[in-house]
Amino acid sequence: MNTQNQNISDKAIFSLFSGDNSEIVANPFGLLAQMRSTSAVMPLPFPIAGADRRAWMITRMQEAVQMLKDQAHFTVDPSSIGVEGLFGRNSAEADDTPTFFTSKTMLTVDEPDHRRLRLLVSKAFTPKYIESLRPQVQQIADELLDRVQDQGQMDLVADYAFPLPINVISEMLGVPHADRDQIRGWSEALAHGLGVGKRDPGVQANMRAFGEYVAHLVAEKRQRPADDLISQMIAIEEEGDRLSETELLSTITLLIFAGHETTSNLIATGTFMLLEHPDQLEQLKADLSLVPSAVEELLRFNGPATIAGPRFAIEDIELAGQSVKKGDVLFAVLASANRDEAQFTEPEELDIARTLNRHIAFGQGIHTCLGAPLARLEGDIAFSTLLRRIPNLHLSVPRESVIWNFSLNSRSLAALPVAF
Ligand code: HEM
Repeated sequence: MNTQNQNISDKAIFSLFSGDNSEIVANPFGLLAQMRSTSAVMPLPFPIAGADRRAWMITRMQEAVQMLKDQAHFTVDPSSIGVEGLFGRNSAEADDTPTFFTSKTMLTVDEPDHRRLRLLVSKAFTPKYIESLRPQVQQIADELLDRVQDQGQMDLVADYAFPLPINVISEMLGVPHADRDQIRGWSEALAHGLGVGKRDPGVQANMRAFGEYVAHLVAEKRQRPADDLISQMIAIEEEGDRLSETELLSTITLLIFAGHETTSNLIATGTFMLLEHPDQLEQLKADLSLVPSAVEELLRFNGPATIAGPRFAIEDIELAGQSVKKGDVLFAVLASANRDEAQFTEPEELDIARTLNRHIAFGQGIHTCLGAPLARLEGDIAFSTLLRRIPNLHLSVPRESVIWNFSLNSRSLAALPVAF
């Protein structure tokens, strides 16, 4: 059973988790298809959580959904079953990192703590409330394009895809304008500094700086509350026992971190995919009412999150014929499930008008992305505004020279030079 990695080299699979092969980082889909056809649940050929525990990749939709929804057998919190997390670490980092940065968030705890933490901020993420932000998001998108429209060229990542989501989440949380570049620097360093066998030297310092900044921001808001999400959360914390200080800080850090890197990837990678599929781009430009459907398809086809966060088996369990042992680590490979032949017709084709599109780019189960309605709104506005205002957008470098960055659970474009 365990030697069924057949023709797929261990090295190629290692690259999926380490980012050491630029061709696989740029296009992992051939490898993912091979994995999918080999097995729904594949063992990783190298240890990731200590020598005595296996790690598994879930490559197909049905099994990925089953695993992500099954709270009785899988946990996001290894300490709850007495095992260490990835790389032999528990959720708390090395001693000199402020504990709140890596302490538990809704993403890393099970029920009932998960529900309590998620409910505290969920009102700010309902589709109805998010829709009310449309004019603000539109204004941010327009201002960014105003700056470059006359230049005839831009780096779509630096000038548009990156600043848009960071400005939106900063507006919601009440992060001052002057601090936003700094936040971007920290979170980029963190997002790209970690991988299997890779830990950039600056990561620790960046975590510390980011953590200290959030603590400082909260202290400021305590003094001068405003009409923003951080002030609302402080009020809840001060009210009683629903939210601890540490949880407050780690939730804010999570929202900043989860809220912009992923969405900027959707905008940048999505634009690149459209430029690579001129027929689809033309169809979209001709009918911008297709943008919401195109956003879903871009999420499915090359979404920002390659894998969901690790799950840990609570007890021995059989999954798709594999014997998973208590403490084993499981990764749902979202990018693979989203191209599952059993789920989608012509899964390797980009079809912006696809009607049946039940992708899991936002995950599945209780940890399904809280920010999905916001990401969808931002995607809708980002693509509509870009294509309406700059319809003759094209790449200004050969496509081979577009560089991808790797991070543990996602891939992003380093830059996307375009002209118009
Ligand atoms: C296109 C953009 C986005 C993508 C592809 C994405 C993807 C994901 C995925 C796959 C998960 C589940 C991870 C897992 O189960 O291990 C997740 C969870 C989460 N996301 Fe997003 N996300 C995006 C945007 C956002 C935004 C804009 C925010 C907030 C401002 C956000 C906040 C969160 C939070 C708080 C969770 C944890 C939810 C929970 O544990 O209950 N995300 N996201």
